[in-house]
Amino acid sequence: MTEPSRIYLSREDIAGLVERLASEIGGNYRDRSLTLIGVLRGGFVFLADLVRQLQAPVRRVDFVRVESYGAKMVSTGRPQIVQGISRESIAGQDVLIVEDIVDTGATTAAVLRYLRRHGPASLGLCTLLDKPSRRQVDVSVDYVGMTIPDHFVVGYGLDFDERYRDLPDIWVIDPERED
Ligand code: PRP
Repeated sequence: MTEPSRIYLSREDIAGLVERLASEIGGNYRDRSLTLIGVLRGGFVFLADLVRQLQAPVRRVDFVRVESYGAKMVSTGRPQIVQGISRESIAGQDVLIVEDIVDTGATTAAVLRYLRRHGPASLGLCTLLDKPSRRQVDVSVDYVGMTIPDHFVVGYGLDFDERYRDLPDIWVIDPERED
């Protein structure tokens, strides 16, 4: 059975990261009106917390849904946008993508490519967690909550085979051993 084994970031740790990110973003977008684009499904909890802390005008919240992992612990590397946005929602707007984690970068690259086609005035990227050691596609992240080593993490929106998204803390799942 693949189970979370230990808490990696407590809910208090996460709240601290969210507060700092909201303050950084708020400072940079103070005089602009932000469109937030959450990346489903994993990003929904982080976005919900972030949007309530932001000290910047939020014009719109929208979502894209991307699929790539399935019931595996590694990405297939071929993310598909399975639910997009309407053109009007971001054309000419200051847009910030809100991700839970950037791992290989493939999902983020696909979302950036997709959103650029809709003509935003600016396009930024915020992620709660960043795993640069796993990067395969070069993406530039504007706001990072925390850089982490190559742990498989679940909770706070992050899943393993659709489970554990509901956990309020972020846990580590250690790889199964073949003894
Ligand atoms: C996770 C996570 C990111 C993506 C990052 O999503 O939410 O969107 O992986 O991985 P990458 O940088 O290697 O592309 P997942 O594909 O598991 O779908 P989910 O959001 O529905 O959980």
